[in-house]
Amino acid sequence: MCGIIGYVGKENAVPIIVDGLKKLEYRGYDSAGVAIYKDDGFDVVKQKGRLSALEQRLAQKPLVGNMGIGHTRWATHGEPSDVNSHPHVGSKNKIAVVHNGIIENYKHLKERLEHWGVNFASQTDSEVIAQLAEHYYSGDLMDAVVKVSNAVEGSYALGVMCVDEPDTLIAIKKDNPLIIGVAKHGHFIASDVPAVLKHTDKVCYLNDKEIAVLKEGSVKFFDIDGEPLEKQVETVTWTMDDAEKGGYPHFMLKEIMEQPKVLRDTIQSVLKSGNNKNVIDTLDISRFNKIVITACGSAYNAGVVARYVFEQLCRMSVEVELASEFRYKNAIIDEKTLVILVSQSGETADTIAAMREAKSKNATTLSIVNVVGSTIAKEANFCLFTAAGPEIAVATTKAFSSQLALLYILSIRFAVKLGKISQVEEQKYLLEISQLPDKISSILKRIDSIQMYASECVGYKSIFFIGRNIDYAIALEGSLKLKEISYIHSEAYAGGELKHGTISLVEENTLVVALSNCERLYGKIMSNAEQVISRGAKVLLIGNCPEAKETDKLFHIGLPQGSELFSPSLSVIVLQLFSYYVAANKGLDIDKPRNLAKSVTVE
Ligand code: G6P
Repeated sequence: MCGIIGYVGKENAVPIIVDGLKKLEYRGYDSAGVAIYKDDGFDVVKQKGRLSALEQRLAQKPLVGNMGIGHTRWATHGEPSDVNSHPHVGSKNKIAVVHNGIIENYKHLKERLEHWGVNFASQTDSEVIAQLAEHYYSGDLMDAVVKVSNAVEGSYALGVMCVDEPDTLIAIKKDNPLIIGVAKHGHFIASDVPAVLKHTDKVCYLNDKEIAVLKEGSVKFFDIDGEPLEKQVETVTWTMDDAEKGGYPHFMLKEIMEQPKVLRDTIQSVLKSGNNKNVIDTLDISRFNKIVITACGSAYNAGVVARYVFEQLCRMSVEVELASEFRYKNAIIDEKTLVILVSQSGETADTIAAMREAKSKNATTLSIVNVVGSTIAKEANFCLFTAAGPEIAVATTKAFSSQLALLYILSIRFAVKLGKISQVEEQKYLLEISQLPDKISSILKRIDSIQMYASECVGYKSIFFIGRNIDYAIALEGSLKLKEISYIHSEAYAGGELKHGTISLVEENTLVVALSNCERLYGKIMSNAEQVISRGAKVLLIGNCPEAKETDKLFHIGLPQGSELFSPSLSVIVLQLFSYYVAANKGLDIDKPRNLAKSVTVE
């Protein structure tokens, strides 16, 4: 996790770096820092706490310079503290470094350096990079960076400056993202595109072990052997507005409200010519006898939803695996397996490892990714892109909805190719999917009643989510969303499992959120609701349930009619808004929940 940025150019680097860090704060936010090059060394300001704390420090001690690096941290090695914050400067005050990733052999390297008399200031793994770079430096920063890269094991995206090379900023990466921004007034390195969007839409995506040497008027690329590389400059389609709150109090609310549009864009991306359509048209599902979907967090929940849709439409068995488990289980997969990787960032460490494991066993990998140029997008055999735009809030909303849309369409197309549904049925399903954005808009218009209900729910210590079949799948996401941002304990259960344990936790003042979009199972979920109500619980019923009768114990939020297969896309809007308003009423930092980061690039 962690976000890094660097700038060299004509402008003052300090506000550029601080502004860029604001866009990267979703990657980590327990401390932040900047280092600015000055004639005889570096000006470094680092501060535990949110970026605002760093800004206050900078207001007291303004810095100026045309080259600098900055970092926002999610601690892995060494507690959040001023000294453990980045940038790290070697003990000779010669080299300054920002690092995103984990250096796995740092203890061994640190011992060696200490043996040679180097004094370490912090408890971090990252400081080893600065110290090692100083140790190797003999007048050529790029040479030192290459030697560091060869010595360290683990993952890294690095920005490196040296006092002896006043106009040079060097970047290198392995297993963590890094982009190079190209602008008229200067050049950037950054962990993600939004950090540079204010200045440029022209970027290059670094591959592992590629080196970028940035100066005010040039950017040059090299491979690890020092051979020059030609890299393509790409134009990003995201705009500055995408990366701003646009008048909303939180990115999460803005991103929830954007869902009709991003769904429309995502659906269109498959129907009109382009990458997504090509990939779906090209993939020959009849080559495979098994589908495995693997992912982490909400992306995993999208996979759980998709399993119901794939199995129903394709009549093919689908496994859904947490990537962190899949990578170590010696999965039974081969060249006849299609492994689908779902990831907003395309950089989640476990999902990357799962992809590589699948490839090593000759499975075909298909990724569903939001970030163009990310590791998973580049390495998977095939990639579908969600058209969600930049998602800044740590808790995913619009990316999740776009993942669902692509998975639905994929399963419909597979079902046709497998001869399991007719073209008439295909058109019927596609029509229904194309109506989802309008249905979502109609739910968003009822935001006030959801807000009002949620505002009464701040006091619950525990909230349970239940559903059956595909409603159970989306209950998992509802529960995750709530716990992520509201810090209320919550769990999701299949309705039928309630009596096998969970009901013992139900008492006066428990809230049970019941999802009901499977008409054939309505009676069953309502009998679960009755069982918990008779034990003192209150029930929030979400679904298309025309027969539901509200009481003082049961509140119903109705959803538009439609096939149960695609109902998760509607339920999830209510679940997101419910979680959002519970957290908002508790006054919590919704976009940056404690201990979490958006992009989990470490194990
Ligand atoms: C974090 C985020 C989640 C996300 C998960 C997987 O936990 O907070 O919103 O679902 O990582 O991330 P990915 O980028 O792979 O979708």
